Amino acid sequence: MKNVKIGLIGFGTIGAGVVKILAENADVIRQRLGATLEVGKIADLDITTDRGVQVPKGVLTTDADAVLDDPEIEIIIELIGGYEPARSFVLKALQNGKHVVTANKALLAKHGEEIFSAADEKGLGIGFEAAVGGAIPIIRSIREAFSANRICTIEGIVNGTANYILSKMSDENCDFQTALQEAQEKGFAEADPTFDIEGIDSAHKIAILTRLAYGAPTNLDEITVQGITNITPEDIECAREFGYRIKLLAISKFDGNSIDVRVHPAMIRMDHPMANVNGVLNAIRVCDDLMEENILIGHGAGALPTGAAVVGDVMEIVRNSLIGKGTRVPAQSFQKTTPISLKSMDEIEAEYFLRFRVKDVPGVLAKISGILGNHSISIESMIQRGRDDNGKGVPLVMMIHRSAEKNVQDALIEIDRLDVVCEKSNLIRVEN
Ligand code: HSE
Repeated sequence: MKNVKIGLIGFGTIGAGVVKILAENADVIRQRLGATLEVGKIADLDITTDRGVQVPKGVLTTDADAVLDDPEIEIIIELIGGYEPARSFVLKALQNGKHVVTANKALLAKHGEEIFSAADEKGLGIGFEAAVGGAIPIIRSIREAFSANRICTIEGIVNGTANYILSKMSDENCDFQTALQEAQEKGFAEADPTFDIEGIDSAHKIAILTRLAYGAPTNLDEITVQGITNITPEDIECAREFGYRIKLLAISKFDGNSIDVRVHPAMIRMDHPMANVNGVLNAIRVCDDLMEENILIGHGAGALPTGAAVVGDVMEIVRNSLIGKGTRVPAQSFQKTTPISLKSMDEIEAEYFLRFRVKDVPGVLAKISGILGNHSISIESMIQRGRDDNGKGVPLVMMIHRSAEKNVQDALIEIDRLDVVCEKSNLIRVEN
């Protein structure tokens, strides 16, 4: 039976999960693969901290090149994250004729073109199931199961940390900081949680999915990204009263001409299946011309769910190599990619939830609704809360009918100039 040696670069949470899975599930892996997998070398800057897994003597090194240049190693797993030196390591691995598996969404979102081309040129496999949605097999689904389908929408909760925070704020009336700290302690959040809470991690993931779904490379800088740091317990409470929950959504829609891709908090109806995807769970909804709608739900982060996706990719590469193939399915799902223009936010239309903080005096509502009317915005329903007892104003929230984003943004600028408005107004888009 063939034994395949693997090199691991990055021995953090997921790396330890991979080592654990390879040890504890070695029997099922061998039975399904018809080969055995062995960790040949592991590189990390820290080789002294106990990761809670057994590593044979001589396997750990601080020198990534010792892994990349080892002639016995056939597959490199890159788990250090970030752009550099991850990019250089992956390119060197491919240059050295080694297949690559990575969980690095930032790297693929930014340098996907270069990395996929390098793998294609060499006829090598590149697995990245773990980069989006952890244990959810979304990459494999788009690349294989949905390969005859014309995808038109991908919409997902793809950041476990943000979902954990919003769920905790909703269910336990917990404040943002406490929820974030817990997510970090549990190892869901990135080292720098800014990427999670500001929507950047979700943008990386939707850029990768957009590439696979429509065969279109996506420039990260063109994606509108808004995180969850402005969401208040008041927003969550009002959303509930209107029958919605607030989720951080990554959205990518293709109308045949251009792609609307964005990340922002969105209100979704409580009876929508994704509204009840809570905690660290992720959900990804795919719509197309053949199956209409498919929602995949699962663990989006964590050592074992993400580690399982990594090991699954390793097994796919070994299966291909056992039948003499470098790759069988194009890494990017299409044989080649074609640029498609992205819609600007000014071109989109949606329903909106608007939150104002206003002085509790006669005529306020008339002023605000007048401005909305002047911008062709029609109010669907409205809540005004309490009395202005402390001079800080009262919350006034509205749901408005489908409107052009540009009109809404222009109206908010005008409304915020009114002397009866106490603080910058906020909007949350409604995705129905
Ligand atoms: N920080 C990420 C999340 C990990 O919270 O979803 C998985 O990419």
